Amino acid sequence: VDGFVFDVDGVIADTARLHLAAWRRIAEEEGLSFDERVAGELRGLSREASLRRLLDGRQIPPEEFAEITRRKNAYYLAAVESLGACDALPGAEKLVRDLARLGIRCAAASASRNARAVLERVGVRGLLEAVIDGNDEAASKTGLHRFLLAAAAVGVEPGRCVVVEDSAAGAATARSLGMRVVGVGDPAALCAATLVFESLRGVDARILLKWLGAARSPSASLTTIRQ
Ligand code: G6P
Ligand code: MG
Repeated sequence: VDGFVFDVDGVIADTARLHLAAWRRIAEEEGLSFDERVAGELRGLSREASLRRLLDGRQIPPEEFAEITRRKNAYYLAAVESLGACDALPGAEKLVRDLARLGIRCAAASASRNARAVLERVGVRGLLEAVIDGNDEAASKTGLHRFLLAAAAVGVEPGRCVVVEDSAAGAATARSLGMRVVGVGDPAALCAATLVFESLRGVDARILLKWLGAARSPSASLTTIRQ
């Protein structure tokens, strides 16, 4: 393993709950159903894909669709305003620092167009060699997925890169791209991951690299580390 690509919302910053709170408010305002299952499925989806999932096949005019995504973003940004260093998730910053000390190239990749602002607010931006956010992915002429753009930005082949993700969608995509995956959160949802931790708190960089080195293929069997 030569590189790590960290997701932001729900891995580095405690912001997945803020995205969900904003969508819950939209669902209430728009009379759309919102439960735990929907909440789980929204994790890691782009703003537009999230609204499509909430609409569940219902068609609305494009202007209305755009207005709802703008409103959701305004709710989310109002919550981001009050983020600070205490909203970095436990263990993430230390893991980035320790991996970097061991010569591992560390980047962040997020579907969120607000990821840079979030990284700045929680104080982790300066530790990462590269950040690819939703804007970079959309603007990229190569059409490559953000995980591949992030791996390329730090000069590491995808097969030698590990993606750290809290969403089932992100973990499955990373694995399909030939990358090993460290899942953070619910092992039942993160079945595409090589290893799953309930949280990054206390995760030792050297031991992690050893385990991942043993799991050469991204489809190596799942191990769940309970803490
Ligand atoms: C991340 C989050 C999603 C969010 C997406 C887009 O992947 O996990 O919940 O919908 O980013 O975020 P944005 O800030 O651009 O609306
Ligand atoms: Mg996430």
